[in-house]
Amino acid sequence: MCVAVLAGVGGDIPAGTVTNDDLAARFDTSDAWITGRTGIRTRHVIGLGESTSDLAVRAGAAALASAGMSTVGAVIVATTTPDRPCPATAPVIAARLGLGPVPAFDLGAVCSGFVYGLAAAQGLIASGLTDSVLLIGADTFSTILDPDDRSTRAVFGDGAGAVVLRAGSRAEAGALLAFDLGSDGTQEDLITVRAGGSRAPHAASGPPGPDRWFSMRGQVVYRHAVQKMAASARAVLADVGWSTDAVDLFIAHQANERILTAVGDELGIPSRNIFVHLTEVGNTAAASIPLALSAAWAAGRLRPHDRILLTAFGGGTTWGSVALVWPEIMP
Ligand code: UT7
Repeated sequence: MCVAVLAGVGGDIPAGTVTNDDLAARFDTSDAWITGRTGIRTRHVIGLGESTSDLAVRAGAAALASAGMSTVGAVIVATTTPDRPCPATAPVIAARLGLGPVPAFDLGAVCSGFVYGLAAAQGLIASGLTDSVLLIGADTFSTILDPDDRSTRAVFGDGAGAVVLRAGSRAEAGALLAFDLGSDGTQEDLITVRAGGSRAPHAASGPPGPDRWFSMRGQVVYRHAVQKMAASARAVLADVGWSTDAVDLFIAHQANERILTAVGDELGIPSRNIFVHLTEVGNTAAASIPLALSAAWAAGRLRPHDRILLTAFGGGTTWGSVALVWPEIMP
């Protein structure tokens, strides 16, 4: 059977930074609290006039260059912070990358969006609908965070990460080998922007209220994230037939370093095999896994034929995992 094979990777983070000390100057918080609770020291944010598509275009171009490709058959953009509610951001990105009239669509699964996107790309490729996909995870949560919420402001940052997938065989390095996806919409209120959609449109008159901002029930989300990521990772490992010892690098959604450690402990994956990338970028939502892949590859942490386990959890709630073998792509 034809499967999706990873052929290129790239990432982009905006130049602007918000350090823990910057937050401590504005809120009742401290570098010690944020570092101790999350492992995050800095997050990057877009400047005036920048948007999600700007980061996504740069990440997509980097992924295409690393794959040595200038065309693809489709573009998928996983995002919760599109440039505008309508139209989708993917067609704009495809046009700006000069990819021609390819199918292009946005995918919404919040922080699980990239893993869902890998499954969507696999479906498009395995069905024969296309022979290659540019998948970008891109988010600018700085545009939806409550300016007065020290909890979410400490966690989230902006960024974009991308991969190129092409048609190939299961035996090839780079093949996506197994998937696990799930959702629980009864928990929709754990991670949410309450207003601005059809359920609670912004009022026709007057400025939008506080419900316009992103909100997260951090402690409950923390527990769900650990449980669901561990269970999903176990499911995908069983499917692919790997023991946890066989995993060379575990790259989970970079929500909080304590969550990464807790999931690793649940699974019995030693800390040396858990990739931590959030220290300087925070939680970049749909961008977090592809940005981590890009950083791990640039740092020489990914060697051809390494067995990689990806796991994510996000709003919805949604979760998912993918097992893949790292390809022979040259830096
Ligand atoms: O990406 C999607 C998935 N997201 C996640 O997986 C995120 C999961 N959640 C988390 O990472 C953590 O819940 C947070 C980092 C967001 C918060 O850490 P926490 O240890 O769960 O804190 P908490 O929300 O339970 O709050 C504990 C205390 C509260 O004070 P009181 O009520 O006990 O007096 C908060 O007001 O810490 C306070 N607090 C802060 N204090 C200083 C919350 N944020 C801060 C802050 N600085 N930045």
